[in-house]
Amino acid sequence: MVTARRNLIAGWTEANYKAGLDSFRIFRRQIVIVNDPEYVRYVVATRHSNFERKSPQMRRALEALLGDGLFISDGETWKRRRPLVADIVHKRRLPEFGETMEHAALAVAAEWAELPDDAEIELTEEMGRLTAAIISRAVFGKSIARVAAQQVIDGFSAYQKHTDSFNLGYFLGADEGWPAFGGRKRRRAIAMVHEVIDGVVNAHLAGEGDAGSMVDLLIRRNQKSESDPLDVTALRNEAATIFMAGHETTATTLTWAWYLIANATWIADRVHQEIDAVCGARAPRLADFPELKWCRAVIQETLRLYPPVPLLPRQAKDADRIGHIDVEKSALVMIAPWLLHRSPDLWDKPNHFMPDRFLSGARIDPFAYIPFAVGPRICPGMNFGLDEATLCLAILAQRFQVIPRVGYKVEPVCRLTLRPKGGLPATIVKRSRGVAA
Ligand code: HEM
Repeated sequence: MVTARRNLIAGWTEANYKAGLDSFRIFRRQIVIVNDPEYVRYVVATRHSNFERKSPQMRRALEALLGDGLFISDGETWKRRRPLVADIVHKRRLPEFGETMEHAALAVAAEWAELPDDAEIELTEEMGRLTAAIISRAVFGKSIARVAAQQVIDGFSAYQKHTDSFNLGYFLGADEGWPAFGGRKRRRAIAMVHEVIDGVVNAHLAGEGDAGSMVDLLIRRNQKSESDPLDVTALRNEAATIFMAGHETTATTLTWAWYLIANATWIADRVHQEIDAVCGARAPRLADFPELKWCRAVIQETLRLYPPVPLLPRQAKDADRIGHIDVEKSALVMIAPWLLHRSPDLWDKPNHFMPDRFLSGARIDPFAYIPFAVGPRICPGMNFGLDEATLCLAILAQRFQVIPRVGYKVEPVCRLTLRPKGGLPATIVKRSRGVAA
């Protein structure tokens, strides 16, 4: 438990990676680990209604910030909100948001171009800044002031820092867990986030927000809704949820992608050759994607090895039976993309970085590869996240090589998302064949 509190993925043994089912107890709570595609399907699809509920740890940790936002809601609330949110982040809207992604990545490229040779940056921070710029403009509108966007970002990271996502009460027998009490700093963090988002929602409601932002789309869809429209608090909860869900996930994907290609120079070469061949001297665009196959495969393989959401914890509503295991009511049922994606029973050379496994046309089992989850709760922003990560990688890799600090020990740690412990210091080197940034 002490290890899990520090790093939720640190306690696994080799046996946990084998495909199968496992069940054990922490104090009074039954924990069921589901690490087999057949049973993943059973939990998330066949018996979705019994296992749709997030674990009390997750709900309690996030409820003060996100309220009843989609990520932690279930039952009727989730059913009503899901089509609304899924519609506004849907892939057909990507062309509208593609320009925002391009501008933000080119702005970072311009900043990197000004750095002195061999300057060191901290990658998780840089990628977090980039994806925050994209998601804040997409959600709140292009005209959101830089300080306001920064206030949301700072509020979210302070909230994470001051929230304990480990809920002892749940393991001691409280089926709903204990409320996550927070101190002054946590309350301040919540106020910082809510103040900005309430301001944006109210401005949009008064007809002053950017047309085409996700908040604008939410409000317009909501106004058309015939039953039970969302109030200002519910609109804020959904805007905050999309911001949270779409920010750090893509940032960590990019961080790990840089780390992986820096350690596999033959793959970095393929990526550079592809970008040069497809784009020449101009910057990559969303429209190039059918031809940027290596860039996309690098992102997909990164998501296999370092899934930003490495654990999908669910709480059984009622007793059930998964394979040979009798599941108790309120048990913690855990699907771990981290384990599933590295299982030797499911993947050839599971710990090797081999983006070509996504190029060969081989069928990937949708219940064995689940960086975006699967079933009715699958990430609605999947295409947004995939395109955003691919585009940012292509734009920056066209101009720069990113070289992690030599000898720096990288340890993946999981709290809400999977990040390198202590960040990832790296040097930016301008590519001689790339376009002058
Ligand atoms: C590489 C980037 C991303 C990854 C790996 C990712 C992964 C995930 C995963 C695994 C879940 C399900 C969590 C669970 O069931 O416990 C999820 C849910 C969600 N994601 Fe993403 N996500 C990414 C990007 C995005 C983006 C860009 C958006 C919005 C623009 C977004 C919006 C959401 C929302 C709203 C949910 C809650 C869905 C529901 O519960 O019905 N995500 N994401």
